[in-house]
Amino acid sequence: MDQIVSFCKRRGFAYPGSAIYGGFANSYTYGPYGTELKKNIKDLWWDTFVRQREDMVGIDGDILLHPRTWKASGHLDSFNDQLVDCKNCKARLRADHLVEGQLDIECEGLADEDVTKLIEENDIKCPKCGKKDFTPVRKFNLMFETQMAKTHSASSGQAADGVAYLRPETAQAIFLEFKNIVDTMRVKLPFGIGQIGKAFRNEITPGNFIFRRLEFEQMEIEYFIEEKDWKSQFDAWQKAMQQWCKSIGLDSDKLHDYEHPEEKLSHYSKRTVDIEYDFPFGRSELYGLAYRTDFDLSQHEQFSKQTLRIHDEQKGEKILPHVIEPTFGVDRTILALLCDGYTEEKLDDGSERVVMKLSPLIAPVKVAVLPLLKKDGLPEKAREVFTLLQHFGNIEYDEGGSIGKRYRRQDEIGTPVCVTVDHDSLEDESVTIRDRDNMQQERVKISELAKKLGKKYFSQ
Ligand code: GAP
Repeated sequence: MDQIVSFCKRRGFAYPGSAIYGGFANSYTYGPYGTELKKNIKDLWWDTFVRQREDMVGIDGDILLHPRTWKASGHLDSFNDQLVDCKNCKARLRADHLVEGQLDIECEGLADEDVTKLIEENDIKCPKCGKKDFTPVRKFNLMFETQMAKTHSASSGQAADGVAYLRPETAQAIFLEFKNIVDTMRVKLPFGIGQIGKAFRNEITPGNFIFRRLEFEQMEIEYFIEEKDWKSQFDAWQKAMQQWCKSIGLDSDKLHDYEHPEEKLSHYSKRTVDIEYDFPFGRSELYGLAYRTDFDLSQHEQFSKQTLRIHDEQKGEKILPHVIEPTFGVDRTILALLCDGYTEEKLDDGSERVVMKLSPLIAPVKVAVLPLLKKDGLPEKAREVFTLLQHFGNIEYDEGGSIGKRYRRQDEIGTPVCVTVDHDSLEDESVTIRDRDNMQQERVKISELAKKLGKKYFSQ
């Protein structure tokens, strides 16, 4: 992980946040290449799951939703972790992690008092300072609170204290718009609503770089179905998620399904399967797939007093759909791709190179155009080639340093192909293309270049 973190900073993928003020714990800024990578992932996801499917539509909801949303969804009452403080070194710890790290006991479902007792009676020490002096275990809600201007809260009939919450999942905005979509979009079951956006969680133990963050991005789908179809729809979405992992180039040997045991299911789920990935710090959740039943829609019906039903043509009546929810973390996708792609290679001549083996579909730079020299009309010719290739996305022009160093620089950030313009190019209207992975070079006519690169690297 240290290698990945320093690589990300050095090569402009992700910087520690607020660094000029001495840093702000667990915050990161995606740099220019990280931002391109992130955008490519989100665009590909949107194309795959929203645009290319007739049974899907997309929305872009607010981060701040009516506070009653979170009472209805169960987040106000159930979205808690058990927290304990070390009185000696002030470390703030997740009580279940503390106990499970030192005893062969599962804390799931245990009351706060029982976990407190376990800590007191079992010689459990603070992993930071080694002392045994803890506060009692207490529940800690993971939602970030914020204060609305009083006038606004009064006029909109929200909570009198003006408290609102930053959404801890994008999903709820989808449930809130279900009625609008049904009323305006002529959808029929089964159909899904997709959304990409920020979510916020006041995690007690954030960490592992961008793996567990306070502010992160999700790509979520709520897929509305008839109850009788839930098993087949669940299977179909599991396959679709596996196919997505393949399409972005994740190593299938590092991906594993984890079926949640019944006692560990979230308050809304009847079945959950995570896709886990072998991160450098261990196997952990990358994505999730849950059967949320009709829990959310029926809760929102009850709390909003609105009918959230859809007309079922076969039954001739209005029914409350059930929901399959495939959810994808954007930041964890980036981390898995970087861990997967980062490769150190020893070359035949004894030198070494770092290659970021990213799929061309999501690579932050699609093509680098390199004039061999900074003179003799080569930069002008290279600029012409650059313009020809711009429709592929983010293209980089680089004329600084030796050609070998420029290739290495592009290898490190994952650029699938470099195009070199040399003196012969001025005569024969051809350029050299050099492949990132096998470093082989090939001469190609400029008139055929875009077609050739499109076919070889950028067709899905
Ligand atoms: N709507 C369902 C839901 O939010 P979740 O498993 O809690 O389910 C979904 O979160 C995905 O969001 C996870 O699979 C993960 O990729 C991502 N995620 C969750 N918490 C995160 C965090 N603190 N930092 C980064 N990504 C996170």
